[in-house]
Amino acid sequence: MNNRVTVPAIMELKGKRKITMVTAYDYVTARWVDKSNVDMILVGDSLAMVMLGHDDTLAVTMEEMLHHTRAVARGAKRALIVGDMPFMSYQVSVEQAVTNAGRFLKEAGAQAVKLEGGAAVVRQIRAIVDAGIPVQGHIGLTPQSIAQLGGFRVQGKTADAAKRLLDDAMALADAGCFSIVLEAIPAPIAEIITERVYVPTIGIGAGAGCDGQVLVIHDMVGLYDRITPRFVKKYEDLGSRMLDALNKFHDEVQRGIFPADEHSFKMKPEEEERLRSFLRNE
Ligand code: KIV
Repeated sequence: MNNRVTVPAIMELKGKRKITMVTAYDYVTARWVDKSNVDMILVGDSLAMVMLGHDDTLAVTMEEMLHHTRAVARGAKRALIVGDMPFMSYQVSVEQAVTNAGRFLKEAGAQAVKLEGGAAVVRQIRAIVDAGIPVQGHIGLTPQSIAQLGGFRVQGKTADAAKRLLDDAMALADAGCFSIVLEAIPAPIAEIITERVYVPTIGIGAGAGCDGQVLVIHDMVGLYDRITPRFVKKYEDLGSRMLDALNKFHDEVQRGIFPADEHSFKMKPEEEERLRSFLRNE
């Protein structure tokens, strides 16, 4: 039986209950997310930073994104999987955008794609949607434009900038996006956008007025300690717990506590004795 969360089901949640999305980039994490009540998994290009150790998201390739999306798809059978289109996989041409979006569904098992940008990428979004591929938009702080934005900064702080964000959101909804990520923008703007667009808004650093929330899983469970944006809530400190476990393992090996009998395999005493006697007579 197919009980996958669908794109129409996500759209219908607007105004009914809050939508949740977290990132996952591998099979094991995807399985845990799939067991939870979280609605969507984003195979985010943030994997460039939290999985691959890059300083920003620009370096990650289509092949790397597809590789991680395939692993997630093997682990998640319920949550809706959104594949994040990496930098330069959709900007160059409409044709390139449709081809690469299609690869996420056809080769990697995603049900939708996400791409960054407002009015500037509307042609690409229309063409991808026309090809039957659901698209999630992403405006505000768009990390793929970090060079242009001058860093990871809150966006839309002036009335003019906020109006441009609202226009972008309207353009994305008109182009057929099934939802729009709003990243790092003042809460009042996110609330206005949420009221005015008919598709769900999914906030990250955009306040409580959005239709849903998304977090990077490594941030929310305390596994990534290089940067913690102010908008992240750390629900767990798995990094410290992992460190404790590793040091305990090291210590127990030194002290002969691990492995114990229950972690070891036995041999029949007579077979052991035979072996010892061979060795004695060698
Ligand atoms: O790549 C990512 O993780 C994202 C989220 C921050 C929305 O785009």
